[in-house]
This record gives sequence, structure tokens and C-alpha cells, in this order.
Amino acid sequence: MTGKAGVIGWPISHSLSPRLHGYWLSELGIDGRYDAVPVEPDELGLFMGNLAANGYAGVNVTVPHKQAVMDFCDRIDPLAARIGAVNTIVVEADDTLTGSNTDHYGFKQNLVASGKLTDATTAGHAVVLGAGGASRAVCTALEELGFSTIHLLNRTVEKAEEVAGDLGGTIEPGPIADAAKYMDGAGLLVNTTSLGMKGSKPLDLDLAPLPVEALVTDIVYNPLMTDLLQRAAARGNPVVDGLGMLLYQAIPGFKAWFQPPEAPRVTEDLRDHILAAL
Ligand code: ATR
Repeated sequence: MTGKAGVIGWPISHSLSPRLHGYWLSELGIDGRYDAVPVEPDELGLFMGNLAANGYAGVNVTVPHKQAVMDFCDRIDPLAARIGAVNTIVVEADDTLTGSNTDHYGFKQNLVASGKLTDATTAGHAVVLGAGGASRAVCTALEELGFSTIHLLNRTVEKAEEVAGDLGGTIEPGPIADAAKYMDGAGLLVNTTSLGMKGSKPLDLDLAPLPVEALVTDIVYNPLMTDLLQRAAARGNPVVDGLGMLLYQAIPGFKAWFQPPEAPRVTEDLRDHILAAL
């Protein structure tokens, strides 16, 4: 066996990561394994302390452990420290643990790979809806993509202010109720709230003030075409669905743990394989 990895969370049975990594292990002919491991919050320290001894090359980390797990890492990469969350842990050769955050890479790469991101997109400002955990990674990615202003809008303005304060730079916090004001002249609109997800309400947002050239994306991928994306596409906006973020964020961990002879790829076949499980 060349490697053992997994995803830890509580609960964890819903995770698509085993299906995703399993696809790449099989496609690349690697004799490794990737499991969903339920870890209760009270047992996180014990699990992490035994990670190397239990033969893990590393793990992905999901809800509710992305922040708490930072206490058990020997080093945290600067970007993950800035985002304030770790979703990928690598066991080094000396059994120490390195934590990183690949959500920002997943979000960024999904936009880049879509081919729909142009100089005109980044010339406008970005409007980010939601100020939860995912939003921090998204804002960081948007800065890397060159957006000079990011309007971070949230129902609870204090949370947007906290994220803007933590990340600093080009982020301007505001209330989501004022979204219309900020959509005017935007190059990109992104939903990072849970609204639009199967089982939740749709995002109630009038898109009329948004330029039709603006790129619209959603980090919700179930359903793939959220109400927001459907309405944006119907009025002519280019749209990028959120599934790619899930797929691309998995690549750095897969490469570190399984050391494949070639990088795992995001293909239509892989997208179909994941969508079949939704
Ligand atoms: P994640 O880690 O996936 O980002 P989260 O931290 O729970 O999830 O954040 C959820 C986001 O969705 C928050 O921005 C939340 O807004 P509040 O901070 O005001 O709670 C947003 N959200 C959830 N339900 C919402 C609703 N009904 N209307 C507006 N925003 C909502």
C-alpha cells in the first residue's frame, strides 16, 4: 500500500471526498486508500496525536474541525493562518504535521479553469455574499486573482467586519440588504452563503443592477445549477457552478499523500461520477 489518507469530520457520512479520491486512486492505478473517519470534537486531539502512528499520510478536515485542528499542527502554512482554517494535513517524514488550506486554491482554480474569467472581470469589483468559513478562503482567492476591491456582504454585518478586519487589505464589509448598490459595476458576484443549497431557501436577490457581463458563481453545488446561477444564466451572465471548487481543493492533498506519477485531473467523467452521488 502506498498511502492511507481520509477525511475527518463530525458527522462525516455525507462527505463526497472518499468517492472523489477513490476515483483518482483507481484512475491512476494507485494502491492507496482514503476513508471517511468520524471524529467527535472531544476526540480530535487524540486522533491527531496518533495520526502518524496509525499510518496516515495525512487527512482532509471538514466541519466542525477546520479551526480546532490548527492547535494540533506542528506548522501551519501562512495562507491557512491568514484564512484561519486548515482543511488539509500532511504527515511529514519526521511524523510532524503540516496544515494548509486548499479551499482558496479550489475556488480560484475553478474560475481559472472555466476560461470565463477575463481581464474585464477583474477590472470590476467583486461582490461576495456571506461571511462564514468558506468566505474567508474565497476572499483570499479573489485577492490573488487581482480584484482591487471586494465588497463582503453579510446578513450579520459584524461578521463581515470581523472577516475584513482579520484579512485586511481590499475587503469592504457591508449588509447583504445593500447588495443592489454594490452589484452596479461588479465584475464578479459569488454566493458563499448556504442559501440555494438543497433543503434551504433560495437566495432572494434581484440581479437587475448586475452588469450582464459579470461572472456569477456559487460555492453551493447541490443542486449544481442553483436558483442564483439559473437566474443569472437566463439574463445572459456567464456562470460557473460550484462543483469544481470541491474537486480542485482535493488535488494538493492527493498529490502530497499518494505522490501520483501524474497530477490528478478534473474531467467531465469525474464531475459525472460525483454528481451521480448527489
Ligand atoms: P460556511 O463555513 O460554509 O461558510 P457558515 O460559517 O455557517 O458556513 O456561514 C454561513 C453563511 O451563510 C453566513 O454568512 C450566514 O450569514 P450570517 O453570518 O448572518 O448567519 C449565511 N446565511 C445562512 N442563512 C442565511 C439566510 N437565511 N439569509 C442570509 N444569509 C444566510
